[in-house]
Amino acid sequence: MAKEKTLEDLFHDTLKDIYYAERKILKALPKMKRAAQSDELKAAFDKHHQETQGQIERLQQVFEIIGKRAQGKTCDAIEGIISEGEEIMDEFKDTAALDAGLISAAQAVEHYEITRYGTLKRWATELGLADAAKLLDATLQEESKTDGDLTKLADSSANDRAKARKAA
Ligand SMILES: [Fe+2]
Ligand SMILES: [Fe+2]
Repeated sequence: MAKEKTLEDLFHDTLKDIYYAERKILKALPKMKRAAQSDELKAAFDKHHQETQGQIERLQQVFEIIGKRAQGKTCDAIEGIISEGEEIMDEFKDTAALDAGLISAAQAVEHYEITRYGTLKRWATELGLADAAKLLDATLQEESKTDGDLTKLADSSANDRAKARKAA
């Protein structure tokens, strides 16, 4: 018979998933910054790169709270989302649509993170891990804010630029 697994196991497994994902994202953001055309988008990626370092530290604190070693577990979802972003960098290089494409790729990352942190925060609360829930919520807020900032950049310039070139 399979060994019984509980919410604690799910929590630990999902923590490893997002830990792996955050470290992948930490490596991807500088590449996205280099690829971005507008200074505003470069600055947004740079800011989130710094936040991501703090998010990784928060995850290490959560591992500590549950008495486990900080360890990642391959996350196929983030691998796929990041390779789609790389495809956009490649296929839309030197075009007016590049920044709009980069923003869409970055928002796919943020939404993945938001779903993971939303779940982890709830599970931490269920498990009576109030301090962990607080740390996870702090990151959840940063991810949501980043997503909103990217929407603003898309609306204020990147989408128009992508359209304008076509009309010209
Ligand atoms: Fe993150
Ligand atoms: Fe993020």
